[in-house]
Amino acid sequence: MLERYLHFIKGVSINLCGKLGVVLVTSSFVSLIILELARLMGIITSSYAGLVTYMLFPSLFVIGLFLILIGWFKFKKQTGKTITELFEQGFDKEDLSVTIFGSRVFHYIGFFSIINIVFLIIISSQMFSFMDSPKFCGTACHSVMNPEWVTYQQSPHSRVDCVQCHVGEGAGALIDSKLNGIWQMVSVTFDLLERPIPTPVHQLRPARETCEKCHWPDKFYGSRLKTIVHNDLDEANTTNYSTLNLKIDAGHGDNRSGIHWHITAENEVRYISVDDKREEIIWAEVRQPDGSYNRYTNKTLTGMTTSQTDTRSIDCVDCHNRATHIYENQENAIDKRIYDGLINISLPFIKREGLKAVTSGYPDKNAGLEGISNHIFGFYQRQYPELARAKSFIIDSAITSLQEIYSRNIHPEMNITWGTYASHIGHIGTTGCFRCHNSNMVDNNGNTISDDCTLCHSLLSNKAATPYQYLTKPDTSDINYQMHKYLRDEFLQSY
Ligand code: HEC
Ligand code: HEC
Ligand code: HEC
Ligand code: HEC
Ligand code: HEC
Repeated sequence: MLERYLHFIKGVSINLCGKLGVVLVTSSFVSLIILELARLMGIITSSYAGLVTYMLFPSLFVIGLFLILIGWFKFKKQTGKTITELFEQGFDKEDLSVTIFGSRVFHYIGFFSIINIVFLIIISSQMFSFMDSPKFCGTACHSVMNPEWVTYQQSPHSRVDCVQCHVGEGAGALIDSKLNGIWQMVSVTFDLLERPIPTPVHQLRPARETCEKCHWPDKFYGSRLKTIVHNDLDEANTTNYSTLNLKIDAGHGDNRSGIHWHITAENEVRYISVDDKREEIIWAEVRQPDGSYNRYTNKTLTGMTTSQTDTRSIDCVDCHNRATHIYENQENAIDKRIYDGLINISLPFIKREGLKAVTSGYPDKNAGLEGISNHIFGFYQRQYPELARAKSFIIDSAITSLQEIYSRNIHPEMNITWGTYASHIGHIGTTGCFRCHNSNMVDNNGNTISDDCTLCHSLLSNKAATPYQYLTKPDTSDINYQMHKYLRDEFLQSY
């Protein structure tokens, strides 16, 4: 077999060009098979290996095939010989003797052509599915996508392919995304990308084609009890607990009741904003049962012109803009590591100092990691030298966690720092829901879009010293009301 192959190869590679072609075809074929096996066996995992396997080698393979053809044509042109004479020079009589199924050379050529075509079809389909894999999207142009890749891996959607949210289904979506991909390749190559990548992402597929394939908007029922644990900035890092009863119900028809009311099939809320950032809302409208719209206009923006021509209907991403690329709020990030037991609150002022350490501006990632370590070590060595000696391992692990917080959330190479990509869920440290839910949004009857503290959640406890207990009943039936009123006043004063 090998002997015959070599014999055929010798015949085909008539001149330097042909020889080069044969070398390219053979070597890229063999290397590709070896690399692919190594990838399948998990010996090589880098996505660059994928780039080489599915892009570089197949390209070399095709170039090789062309070189062989070019070699023939060159030979023909230089010597003025016909293809038959050319074959006579390359092969011996036996190869050329014609049977009923054609000559042996003809068999070889047919055989190798079929192999080449099958091979190229398999490789190109592999290439397409490889280019759709999260690993490729997330790591092929490393520095650019690294923030999205890091946050993606920690999200509830880390098993959902990037393309399921960003490309959606259908031929139109596929073509759109491939065209867009070409532009992205160009902009990465020539460094034309904006850093950070601007949001909202306008090419994102509509939520109906993505989120709603897995989550069913009409099927949100009841409420969700959520306890948020915070730590104070005092020496003891005092822990406090707030418990919200989040009304995540969708509500139906007249039975309006909760947060997912906006997105049920029978409802529509649409709005227009000052610019494409969707931050400052000029007006928002609610579709009424008779098909008309009731409009709430922002008092503070009357007469404001807008660059937007299209109104937008609220979908999942207007609230869940951080469904996957979840950047933490600096305080919550530390509170969470404390709650998870990674940062020990027996270290005095660890919350306060940790916060200082992760929020100082550092020129790059390494400076950041080193700066955090120096800050924390320095602080305990100066203020609590004895503790620094006795509890050095607890300090060490706190530093490791603070560095992890920094690496996850801060990406100097993409100009991403605290708050660059704020979440629209809630209203603490973000305009979020209060973009519309505020007393400046009024309709013709003088009604506002409610910002009542019990519209979206009831606050079962706020900064309490102990976690809220389900079964503790309020003393009087009225105290819930009083608490809300009190909290509301207190909150509005500080807002
Ligand atoms: C569950 C859906 C989902 C998945 C899976 C997903 N994304 Fe996203 N992505 C989003 C949403 C939603 C936004 C934010 C849109 C906005 O703010 O307008 C976004 C934004 C982005 C942005 C813009 C910058 C930013 O952080 O807002 C990039 C780049 C991006 N995604 C890349 C990726 C890559 C790469 C993957 C896979 C590794 C991925 N996405 C997986 C939903 C998803
Ligand atoms: C391929 C299916 C799929 C798609 C597409 C998808 N999700 Fe999810 N989503 C899930 C699954 C499964 C979970 C639960 C993961 C878990 O609990 O570990 C989840 C979790 C969530 C959660 C967190 C729930 C919680 O308990 O905290 C939110 C919010 C969410 N998805 C919103 C979205 C939004 C918004 C989109 C569109 C941008 C989207 N999802 C697209 C499957 C999907
Ligand atoms: C008006 C804002 C808003 C819109 C629009 C919205 N959500 Fe939500 N969603 C919320 C809030 C607020 C929560 C509660 C957040 C929390 O648990 O921390 C929530 C919770 C969720 C959860 C977790 C539910 C649970 O049982 O714990 C999922 C999943 C989810 N949303 C998916 C979606 C999907 C999918 C869409 C679009 C079809 C959508 N949401 C549209 C605001 C919204
Ligand atoms: C783009 C504007 C807009 C944003 C952003 C927005 N809402 Fe709304 N929301 C509305 C409008 C308009 C109504 C209906 C007001 C009316 O006519 O009573 C509404 C109604 C509600 C209702 C009452 C539904 C019912 O059953 O009556 C809840 C609860 C709610 N929103 C929660 C939220 C939460 C939570 C967020 C943030 C995560 C949010 N909204 C963000 C515009 C918005
Ligand atoms: C339009 C809906 C909406 C209204 C109105 C609203 N909230 Fe909230 N609130 C939310 C959502 C959503 C969250 C975020 C829950 C989460 O973190 O997932 C939240 C979170 C909170 C938290 C917990 C924050 C934390 O991280 O500890 C407090 C406290 C709070 N709200 C108080 C209030 C008070 C007081 C009012 C009245 C002035 C109010 N809220 C009005 C939707 C609303």
